Amino acid sequence: MPTALVTGASDGIGTEFCYVLAERGYNLILVARRRKRLEDLKNHLTKDFGITCSAISHDLSKPGAARELFDSVSELDLTVDLLVNNAGLLQNGFFTDIDLATQENMIMVNIINLTALTHLYSKDMAERRSGHILNVASLTGIMPIPNQNVYAATKAFVLSFGRSLHNEMKAQRCNVIITTLCPGFTATKMMDNRGQGAKLAIPVAMMQSPRKVAEAGITGCLAGKDMVIPGIANRIISVVAGLLPNRFLVPALGRFYRANMKSYE
Ligand SMILES: NC(=O)c1ccc[n+]([C@@H]2O[C@H](COP(=O)([O-])OP(=O)(O)OC[C@H]3O[C@@H](n4cnc5c(N)ncnc54)[C@H](OP(=O)(O)O)[C@@H]3O)[C@@H](O)[C@H]2O)c1
Repeated sequence: MPTALVTGASDGIGTEFCYVLAERGYNLILVARRRKRLEDLKNHLTKDFGITCSAISHDLSKPGAARELFDSVSELDLTVDLLVNNAGLLQNGFFTDIDLATQENMIMVNIINLTALTHLYSKDMAERRSGHILNVASLTGIMPIPNQNVYAATKAFVLSFGRSLHNEMKAQRCNVIITTLCPGFTATKMMDNRGQGAKLAIPVAMMQSPRKVAEAGITGCLAGKDMVIPGIANRIISVVAGLLPNRFLVPALGRFYRANMKSYE
């Protein structure tokens, strides 16, 4: 049975990735900080799907965290066939109001340790001449987003990095697929989380279910796609955003985000 490692497995889209992969017969390595949630998920998945699960409580906002995780997985004598770099953080608000340590934390999780895990596992997979990596970016990665500026920029990095790496790995004929997933608004705690500055009050009707997003990501990755935008509405947004000049697009996005940004105080 193949094994998949999912970061950010304790909630939202990450938990759904685990169910989608378990249904497809993958053994799982669950990674996030909240141990209790990981242990509960592990027990469900083991019981319901008869797979083998390991839960690793790990903080990906620390420098060197990716290497430590890679070493812990190696010590368990597990080989990763599919890596899902899903853990991510968001901050809504004005750049100057959000403290620098919080912004750096987000860059560490969304970019630095995602890149490091991709490096460690793509090398390992290339040596074995087999593997899949699914990196979770966002639709925000295709456009500058005022009041989510650092978050959107981290996702632009993930998208650009993933698409170019997909081509490189293909040219090397090492049988390693890199896929980048760009979800739009998805109904998870990321849409309503006191820890991320302000809430973006988006109607539920405008959000996709995390299950649909996870299914689209895994299906696209296993089909060898370089990028997946889940849902027709998100694909239309991506086309329209690509056609509009930034001098019109960015002020319109700024007005939309500020009109819908609600403070928790
Ligand atoms: N929801 C959306 O609208 C949306 C849209 C586009 C893209 N995305 C992207 O999709 C991914 C998943 O988001 P989601 O909506 O499922 O968010 P979520 O419900 O807030 O879950 C985030 C996950 O990341 C983990 N995580 C956060 N900080 C971590 C850290 N320092 N170390 C290890 N794990 C950490 C959390 O677990 P612990 O707290 O237990 O550590 C949790 O499992 C993210 O990359 C996000 O940017 C989301």
